[in-house]
Amino acid sequence: MNKLKSYFALLFVTGLLSSCSSYDRSDFTTDRTNKGDMYNILYYASLSGSSHNSQPWRVEVYKEDSILVFTDSLRKLNVIDPKEREFYISIGAFIENLNLAAGSYGYNTEIRINNAVTDKNIPTATIKLSKCKKTDFQISDIEKRRTLHTAFDTTEIKGNDLEALIKSAPENIHYAPSSFINGKYVKKNTINSYAQQAKNKEAQDELAKWFRFSNRDVKEKRDGLTTSGLDLNGLSGFVVRNFFNPEDSKKESFVNKAIEKTQMQAENCAGWIIITQPKNDIEAWINSGRLYQRVNLKCRKLSLGFQPMNQMIEEKNYESEANSFLDYKGTIHFVARIGYVKDYPDPVSVRRPVESFTTFK
Ligand SMILES: Cc1cc2nc3c(=O)[nH]c(=O)nc-3n(C[C@H](O)[C@H](O)[C@H](O)COP(=O)(O)O)c2cc1C
Repeated sequence: MNKLKSYFALLFVTGLLSSCSSYDRSDFTTDRTNKGDMYNILYYASLSGSSHNSQPWRVEVYKEDSILVFTDSLRKLNVIDPKEREFYISIGAFIENLNLAAGSYGYNTEIRINNAVTDKNIPTATIKLSKCKKTDFQISDIEKRRTLHTAFDTTEIKGNDLEALIKSAPENIHYAPSSFINGKYVKKNTINSYAQQAKNKEAQDELAKWFRFSNRDVKEKRDGLTTSGLDLNGLSGFVVRNFFNPEDSKKESFVNKAIEKTQMQAENCAGWIIITQPKNDIEAWINSGRLYQRVNLKCRKLSLGFQPMNQMIEEKNYESEANSFLDYKGTIHFVARIGYVKDYPDPVSVRRPVESFTTFK
């Protein structure tokens, strides 16, 4: 009897301990040593950011020289992204990581985008790879990139750092300091549009489908928004992980807490990165996704926290006003807050394994 009691006590303690910490990326490592270059390149591609961590890609690999990238329509966010802009921005981020990783493995890429994808069986991108000298891109930069939800420093960004962020595409990448009129506008309208979206029942239903609160869900799905990925640490992370289910995220108290947190985030940054494009089609969205990924990678190198906050352009009534008030050339595709952070934590958001989105032909 005593043995049985200690067995159950041990089970209880083990369960309690494992629910104390959230499963994160470090819990799902794969030995990639003998998997080949294509597998490794796709692993790094998959570490790109995506809206709600939906990871909406599917891939076919033909020998060592071509990769077809498809979208996975089951992973669309129809409520907050009906025009599919963010869907393709996420694909663009994947392609950018793929391109950088390929270079570092010694492959040149020739990327062709199909701007009129009408069928899920037609690839969005066809990527031809040819052997070349390895680039000096440090692949570990991809492993370190992340979205950060904590407060950032509000001190001005240094001129050199700003130049490094913008110089690859000054026509498309803009910076609005928080203390300037455009920055103040983005802050106010990000908070208000977030509150509007957070109270919208359809957006709540959609978001709830991507929450992975319990460790069991994280392990099973390896996508979506986890407590650690949202930087919900300590006691609040423990409570959400163990006592909340995704449906609870629709309750007024939860929604109000999320609005409060968004306000804190919008108020605690040095300024806003805004990506624009002259066009509004698949290719332009993919280009914005590639720029987003590049800026996020660069921010990490410069100890600048980076958090996409796109609600101002997701909510239709805010979007048109923002485009005319901010008056950049082209349309706004992407908004993110940035600011220096002292201790940059390691990335924690989880990813599906390469095998789950890839067919090797
Ligand atoms: C198009 C797009 C929109 C996003 N919008 C938000 C957002 O509104 N708020 C937020 O905190 N993160 C946002 N993100 C970041 C994703 O949630 C994040 O990339 C994903 O959870 C994976 O985490 P990681 O970037 O740390 O790898 C967005 C990302 C993309 C690509």
